[in-house]
Amino acid sequence: MSRYHQLLQHLETHPRTWLITGVAGFIGSNLLQTLLAHGQRVVGLDNFMTGHQHNLDMVEKLSTPGQWENFRFIRGDIRDPETCLRACEGVDHVLHEAALGSVPRSIDDPLLTNSCNIDGFLNMLVAARDGKVKSFVYAASSSTYGDEKTLPKREDVIGKPLSPYAVTKYVNELYADVFARSYGFTTIGLRYFNVFGQRQDPCGAYAAVIPQWFAALLQGKPVHINGDGETSRDFCYIDNVVQANILASCAEDAARNLVYNVAFGERTTLNELFLLIRDEVVRHKPEAVGSQPVHRDFRAGDVRHSLADISRAQTLLGYQPAYDVRQGLRLAGDWYAANL
Ligand SMILES: NC(=O)c1ccc[n+]([C@@H]2O[C@H](COP(=O)([O-])OP(=O)(O)OC[C@H]3O[C@@H](n4cnc5c(N)ncnc54)[C@H](O)[C@@H]3O)[C@@H](O)[C@H]2O)c1
Repeated sequence: MSRYHQLLQHLETHPRTWLITGVAGFIGSNLLQTLLAHGQRVVGLDNFMTGHQHNLDMVEKLSTPGQWENFRFIRGDIRDPETCLRACEGVDHVLHEAALGSVPRSIDDPLLTNSCNIDGFLNMLVAARDGKVKSFVYAASSSTYGDEKTLPKREDVIGKPLSPYAVTKYVNELYADVFARSYGFTTIGLRYFNVFGQRQDPCGAYAAVIPQWFAALLQGKPVHINGDGETSRDFCYIDNVVQANILASCAEDAARNLVYNVAFGERTTLNELFLLIRDEVVRHKPEAVGSQPVHRDFRAGDVRHSLADISRAQTLLGYQPAYDVRQGLRLAGDWYAANL
């Protein structure tokens, strides 16, 4: 049995209290679903800036009434220090997901991204330190690799950030590290690489590529590829990310105060991704078979290629991503077809 499954079994008999910030968002609501399913008590914090009540409603439907009773929701903003302190009361493990994602959003409004991603992050660090939580695991980002060209990306070799969003995620890592040195407070940063799966928002100008393309193909609308389509990413299915968070929260001392790549460890170009998504959509909507993408200009702030070396997470956390991009797209496609 994998370390992850052993840990889930252990947690079921020794339940703990978790705080998920950004719980109404894509990653936060998936963390909530898994933790409740394994008998954990969860406090969730969100201000619904990009998250949705319907994500929480969906988790409620997937939980038993007894599991759902273990969830307490606080509607609030991480930019308010008092709210963060209140949310951390009696909590064992913090999973800090709340932030404004999206590179283009940060280019359009760097002040707003900065306030949520840096001020809010620092408020959460202080609250978690003062609340004496056992672990603080936070959503870092592959955007921290910036203009570093070496592939695969190893945690210790980063370049210059290419967007305000990347700056904020790098600053998170610097603060987390300084909190370890200054206060003996331990943190773990998870550098996510293009996560996808159920409940990722397909709507709005800042939607990520996979939900956007599923929605466009299912609704018979055009799919746009920025650039020549040879841009590549290490797309990571949501369940792998949930696994990394739970393993990191319970990591041994030697594995703490580090950052980890969280990805599958394979590269897919946008042109390949389009064909994979179209194949999935065709299973639900056969007329999508002839759809072709429309190419337009490259997007500012985007890195050209991204591929993770995941050996640190494998070795120190026992991370074993269970879903590759095809398996993940099959599950995501079924979900978008049923829920859009
Ligand atoms: N999805 C990805 O591919 C990816 C990749 C790298 C890093 N990340 C990081 O993972 C985390 C979760 O991302 P996601 O994809 O689930 O995004 P999301 O937008 O679905 O979720 C973020 C949640 O945080 C909440 N939030 C934002 N600002 C807040 C504030 N000031 N106070 C309280 N709540 C606030 C939003 O309402 C939302 O529910 C973010 O930190 C993001 O930067 C995501």
